[in-house]
Amino acid sequence: MGTVFKLFAVSPPGLEYVTARELKELGIEGKVVKGGVEFKGTIKDIYRTNLHLRTANRILVRVATFKAKSFKELVERVKRYPWEIYIQKDLPIKLRVTSRKSKLYHTKAIEERIVKGIMERVKFEPLITEEEDLGESIIVRVERDRFTISVNSSGAMLHKRGYRRETGDAPLRETFAAAMVLESGWMGNAPLIDPFCGSGTIPIEAALICTNTPPGLYREFAFEKWRIHSEELWQSVKDEAAQSIKECRASIMGFDKDRRSIKAAQINAFFSRVKANLSFEVKSFPELNTEKAYIVTNPPYGIRVEADNLKEIYASFGRWVKSNFKEAHVVILSPLKRYVEATGLRLERITSFSNGGIRVGLYRGAIP
Ligand SMILES: C[S@@+](CC[C@H](N)C(=O)[O-])C[C@H]1O[C@@H](n2cnc3c(N)ncnc32)[C@H](O)[C@@H]1O
Repeated sequence: MGTVFKLFAVSPPGLEYVTARELKELGIEGKVVKGGVEFKGTIKDIYRTNLHLRTANRILVRVATFKAKSFKELVERVKRYPWEIYIQKDLPIKLRVTSRKSKLYHTKAIEERIVKGIMERVKFEPLITEEEDLGESIIVRVERDRFTISVNSSGAMLHKRGYRRETGDAPLRETFAAAMVLESGWMGNAPLIDPFCGSGTIPIEAALICTNTPPGLYREFAFEKWRIHSEELWQSVKDEAAQSIKECRASIMGFDKDRRSIKAAQINAFFSRVKANLSFEVKSFPELNTEKAYIVTNPPYGIRVEADNLKEIYASFGRWVKSNFKEAHVVILSPLKRYVEATGLRLERITSFSNGGIRVGLYRGAIP
């Protein structure tokens, strides 16, 4: 069975429940807290969650929790934990420290003592870097003198699947796009359409979901450098996942009026390596006349995307949905409630989160 780790899937606040549902599908019961889901698991679960979760930002291992009120105490505490599992001589590590309502509050000084404690344990000087994505990151949170030290098993954030090489004007994070598709209830049983597809993130995530392709299949993770890492076990987890990739019969379509964005979407689709019925076309609200469809989209905000008449764009979108489909399930992401109302569709806000510093609502509804 092996060691059981205390783990934490960091998710965007507002989407924790979607991550918890994804964990459940992997057979893992977690506890939703603000900013993520706590769960327990083995090294295999660390591999599986990093590989499969579509909406999490990172998987952290909670290595240490203790109270310390002096630097001496801090060093003494830190050196008791098995840092040799995660830290290697030539592996750059980045520390991120935050402190609130605690005796020890000077984050640089805390960082120095933690490095000292680690050094006393591993018997070499760790290679500290400021670069986040370079190697291992250690996240230290101090609250009311209680230290929680976590190691980031993912490395680069999980939304970085590796396929997005080009972007349009306001690209959506892959994790958000995946959450939107998951929240639409689409099961590959009807076409999925994004009429404002930009660089294609929503259609590509939909194709990955429909084909059951794990989002992390072609990227690297920090755990691959750990001492306890088993290449054999990792390969078997990936092989098992690769074997469950299935055919997706539904057509997945992305449209955008901007030629450059459509080109970016096509390039990104190529790098995603997903084999699905995925198409992108330069068109604004095309004539489709399909019986049933799932419309999952992220219309322009008017904040980063230039638009003369946003309200009119939302209203045209609403008319397009009503005139093209007998049955449509709609999920849209927008910071502007009054524009969402301008669609004339009955849409309900199901959650909200921050998208690049902008508060956006996730709206869902259906016609008829
Ligand atoms: C917020 S961006 C979508 C970003 C996309 N989800 C991504 O990940 O790259 C909105 C997109 O709507 C497109 N757009 C704006 N008005 C449009 C219209 N009338 N018809 C079609 N596309 C339009 C813009 O070109 C832009 O790419």
